[in-house]
Amino acid sequence: MTFLDLVKQRYSCRNYQPRAVEQEKLDYVMECVRLAPSAVNKQPWRFHIVRSEEDKAKLQQCYSHEWFQTAPMYIICSILHDEEWVRSDGKHHGDIDIAIAVEHLCLAATEQGLATCWGCNFDAVKCKELFDIADNEEPAVLIPIGYAADEPMEQREQSQTCLDSAESRQRSGGAQPKDKKRKRMEEICWNLD
Ligand SMILES: Cc1cc2nc3c(=O)[nH]c(=O)nc-3n(C[C@H](O)[C@H](O)[C@H](O)COP(=O)(O)O)c2cc1C
Repeated sequence: MTFLDLVKQRYSCRNYQPRAVEQEKLDYVMECVRLAPSAVNKQPWRFHIVRSEEDKAKLQQCYSHEWFQTAPMYIICSILHDEEWVRSDGKHHGDIDIAIAVEHLCLAATEQGLATCWGCNFDAVKCKELFDIADNEEPAVLIPIGYAADEPMEQREQSQTCLDSAESRQRSGGAQPKDKKRKRMEEICWNLD
């Protein structure tokens, strides 16, 4: 698989099978996370693997969408603010670092046949409380991870040609259809010469 194939294959999955993620696959994914670059190599991050029924129920209180509960496990991705690099003008780099590591996670998972979805629209204050997370640590992203329960990509792509996203979502049981709606290259890539 080329890198472009992998990038095309990753999508935000919002419907998971109950099937557990194999430990070897999780180890592989986390090794790809561990090797992510960071500003001044500070690696200002921590990843909480959430697998027990008790912890899953706690995390589900922080992001109450129904689809989120279908995931067999989650990873809480945190920034360690006392470890992040701060540039001389005061700009903090933890957000950038965690984003790189999390996308390593999502792409590695995709390569392993797993599905993920970024989740930032959660109650981070509640998450800190429920998991007794220290002051210096900010839970920044929740990642559900597992095997997708929605239609295979090809079918989703075909149905996407004749359905708008709401209809398509309904048809695939709440899952986001595979639609890579993106800005055109001319809009994002400015040639300076
Ligand atoms: C920083 C960030 C935060 C996101 N937060 C959420 C979220 O809270 N809930 C959600 O369902 N999707 C979330 N997403 C997923 C985006 O909606 C999704 O990546 C985008 O619509 C493109 O779709 P695709 O990932 O299927 O290509 C987030 C993505 C990013 C990068």
